[in-house]
Amino acid sequence: MIRAVLRGTGSALPKQVVTNADLAGKVDTSDEWIVERTGIRQRYIAGEGESTSTLATDAARAAMEAAGFEPGSVDLIVLATATPDNTFPATATKVQHALGCNGGIAFDLAAVCTGFLYALGVADSMLRTGMAKRALVIGAETFSRIVDWEDRTTCVLFGDGAGAFALEAVEVAEDGPGVLATRLHADGEHGPLLYVDGGPSTTQTVGKLRMKGREVFRHAVVNLSEVLLEVLEGAGISAADLDWVVPHQANARILDATARKLDLPAEKIIKTVDQHANTSAASVPLAFDIAVKDGRIKPGDLVMLEGMGGGFTWGASLLRV
Ligand code: UT7
Repeated sequence: MIRAVLRGTGSALPKQVVTNADLAGKVDTSDEWIVERTGIRQRYIAGEGESTSTLATDAARAAMEAAGFEPGSVDLIVLATATPDNTFPATATKVQHALGCNGGIAFDLAAVCTGFLYALGVADSMLRTGMAKRALVIGAETFSRIVDWEDRTTCVLFGDGAGAFALEAVEVAEDGPGVLATRLHADGEHGPLLYVDGGPSTTQTVGKLRMKGREVFRHAVVNLSEVLLEVLEGAGISAADLDWVVPHQANARILDATARKLDLPAEKIIKTVDQHANTSAASVPLAFDIAVKDGRIKPGDLVMLEGMGGGFTWGASLLRV
């Protein structure tokens, strides 16, 4: 059978680190509150010359190099982002040009914090059906440019960054590597709980992020537990078979609550929210790359990826490395 096999990963972060103490000097908050309620200790914020496309390009280049892909051999780039450089053209086409991969398919995909799961699902389908042979799947965001820096209930939660997977369509055995199963969902009823209050077709402005955090939290734990079970059942395995879970990094309490619901030991959960805060579509591939680089995720490991965000959207994907 043909599967989308992971050949390399990469990530990129802006230069500037902003600590909780830095934010406490700007809005009415404290390091204690942020750490206790979210687990976040710092975030990276894009500065001058840094944008979603530059972060995406750096992460994708690293993934491409780790995979040993020549730029000309990449025929698909899917970039998950809610913070594109421009309304159009797709930021993916800028990344494609910067990497020298011109000529293949390149497009952006918007599913906010679930963006990477959606992008991986789409790329997996395209690789398995022969529409492409080698793909870069990227999650990249500069949420610092859409948060309301006067709203303490949201501005402390987000950061900027990018992560990327280099994938290849390969004929493998049943027990071989690759993306094994993906489930994606959306429910537009909950749009007003997490959204940006502007856009080209409505206000002709970029807008600012608005969130009813407590309600999002409640839905996140339920939806994530359900979709994780759905993927496990679909793949015919149990949670105990997983080597690692790489969750969307929104809040350490969401990660802990979801793990408890599924009886997953805390040491199997890759947690980077303390270092990067919530980087939306970038958070899963960024956390994954950190765990590859520090030697936790190894070839042969069975890894579950999951995410939930605006829309609502949510999903999970099971991968044999
Ligand atoms: O990635 C997309 C998905 N997004 C998420 O998953 C986010 C989900 N939600 C959350 O992570 C949490 O709900 C938050 C971290 C956003 C908030 O934590 P919470 O425990 O749900 O707090 P809360 O919203 O219930 O607020 C508790 C109190 C409030 O004060 P009162 O009304 O009790 O007097 C807030 O005004 O904390 C106050 N507060 C703050 N205090 C200090 C809210 N933000 C801050 C802050 N610093 N930054």
